[in-house]
Amino acid sequence: MTIKTVLKMGDPILLQKAAEVTRFDTPELHALIQDMQDTMAHMNGAGIAAPQIGLSLRVVIFGVGSNPRYPDAEQVPYTVLINPTLRPIGDAQEDGWEGCLSVPGLRGVVPRYERLHYTGFDQYGKPIDRLVSGFHARVVQHECDHLDGILYPMRIQDLTKFGYTDVLFPNQDIQDD
Ligand code: NI
Repeated sequence: MTIKTVLKMGDPILLQKAAEVTRFDTPELHALIQDMQDTMAHMNGAGIAAPQIGLSLRVVIFGVGSNPRYPDAEQVPYTVLINPTLRPIGDAQEDGWEGCLSVPGLRGVVPRYERLHYTGFDQYGKPIDRLVSGFHARVVQHECDHLDGILYPMRIQDLTKFGYTDVLFPNQDIQDD
């Protein structure tokens, strides 16, 4: 179990285009995913991308389980997604609040495609092919942006909807992802 330091906005690694994974089911890839899992769990994140722990590879993990405090929150299955391809279905976008482990303490409203077709591979090289919408689609778009050097503040269109989590949402215990 290794909890890695999460790089913060300003680090040039977060602005790089990450490289494709060329070999699956290797000890190195499994160790990377274990480190990502441990780090995400430790920080209560909804997802994390390999560049956030300093490795510029096209690997993301994400997942949101049930939380009794937020019974209406949409669940997202735990997923390891490597070399992803994203295709929006239709032009419709919706606004939603986002945070990021690399931008601690802040939240902003980001437009994302509502419906998404994504493909890629898991850590064993098994294909993944899904049609998703809503929060699941948002999480995938956010995480995969990290692989192209994009952080969510770069996508905020209305900067009046960007601020500190504890000021925007007082009296709420929101995970700091
Ligand atoms: Ni992020």
